[in-house]
Amino acid sequence: MFRKLSEDRIKVRISFEGEEFFVDTDQSVASALLAEGHQVFRSSVINNQPRGAFCMMGVCFDCLLEINGRPNQQACMVPVKENMVIKRQISSGNNPS
Ligand code: FES
Repeated sequence: MFRKLSEDRIKVRISFEGEEFFVDTDQSVASALLAEGHQVFRSSVINNQPRGAFCMMGVCFDCLLEINGRPNQQACMVPVKENMVIKRQISSGNNPS
């Protein structure tokens, strides 16, 4: 579904749900996760239905993730950085962990 334009880019290490990846710099967390085959980023507040990136421009808020311990981060608006720890957000993100 998604493919990278080039493999000749600088890589950074990120982890998503405990799985580590080396991903290209100069992209958002959402695009990095989609390129790695992850499409479910959070669950809805009502009924815990799976949600993932939709608009990729900061409008829909369906891409909310917990990034480095901070909930409610818009994955499509946050650039990847070395050693990011990323987790799915369950419901509103205000769950005790
Ligand atoms: S994908 Fe819509 S706000 Fe991030």
